[in-house]
Amino acid sequence: MQLTEYRRLWNARKWMKRNEPFLPTWHAHLGYSLDLFKRFKKGAAVEEVALTHDLNQDLLQRWVDVGLVLGHLKQNRKGIIKPKRSLVKYVSKDSDSSVGILIKEMMELHIPTMLSYRDLMQGKEVNFFEADYGDTVAQTSALLETIAFPKVLDVVKKERVKSIFDIGCAYGGYLKRIQVKKPKLRLKGLEADEQVAKKAQEEVKDSDIEIISGDIKEYESDEEFDLVMMNNLLYYFSKEDRAELFERSSKIVGKKGTLIVISPLVQSKHGQAFASAFNSFMSAHENMYPVPSERELKQYAKAAGFKFKKTTPVVKEGGWYMMVFKK
Ligand SMILES: C[S@@+](CC[C@H](N)C(=O)[O-])C[C@H]1O[C@@H](n2cnc3c(N)ncnc32)[C@H](O)[C@@H]1O
Repeated sequence: MQLTEYRRLWNARKWMKRNEPFLPTWHAHLGYSLDLFKRFKKGAAVEEVALTHDLNQDLLQRWVDVGLVLGHLKQNRKGIIKPKRSLVKYVSKDSDSSVGILIKEMMELHIPTMLSYRDLMQGKEVNFFEADYGDTVAQTSALLETIAFPKVLDVVKKERVKSIFDIGCAYGGYLKRIQVKKPKLRLKGLEADEQVAKKAQEEVKDSDIEIISGDIKEYESDEEFDLVMMNNLLYYFSKEDRAELFERSSKIVGKKGTLIVISPLVQSKHGQAFASAFNSFMSAHENMYPVPSERELKQYAKAAGFKFKKTTPVVKEGGWYMMVFKK
């Protein structure tokens, strides 16, 4: 074989190998979408599951074959298929520990967006299918709470915060967690997506948490708060709007009050591959904007009368940080 031909083959192999890590996510995504890990949970034959749930048996068999190769599924001598327990737990729809919504976001929102770049770059129209976008994003953001919440709670304790206003609170996850730890605090959230706000209101109706439906760009607060939070919100705001967002928060933060901003940051030390992919997603969508840098946020904060306190990593590999400012 000629050297050039061999190199060509080598390169083809390289790209095929690079694509291989896609397979487990594809398998998990399909498993989650059709709840296949649950269907096989107690052990079942392919034929039986196909018949009971009206699925194409050949295609289901291919999904099972891939699952066996990947180790997501096991097969006994009688041909009965059983999933690994961790997949039933984390990639089933009704499991409390499910992370399926994140797999859904990656596969149904992020990857299709990246694939639409060819058309977008050429100015062609692209239709994104985003009917339940608000719900998906609200749910996936909530996954981050587990790591970010203790950091937020530290600030609440240290600054002896008595009242909190959460801008873009989605399902009010941070407020609910705070209430468990600090039941006497005044807690209020603002959420622009009407459907999300409605569901959040429903969820907190038996508590003292107040959630209102509205856009911070038009919102006039008649009350000041010791702490204002804007978590995972900045990519909904253009640079000009971000400056105004900080101005608006500054009016809501009381004397000596605190501002917490949780966001992925660009040009930070960690997680830059993730931040760049995230930005590619944001830029493809109207009304979404690339994530800010730490420097940019410090500038807005300073202009709005805040002093910078600290930046702490929340998820290093994701380039996700918490920034704290004080009046
Ligand atoms: C990515 S979610 C983050 C939710 C939550 N803060 C968290 O960190 O888990 C951002 C939320 O902000 C809401 N939002 C976007 N723009 C807003 C605005 N102008 N005013 C109020 N809420 C807004 C979105 O509808 C969405 O539910």
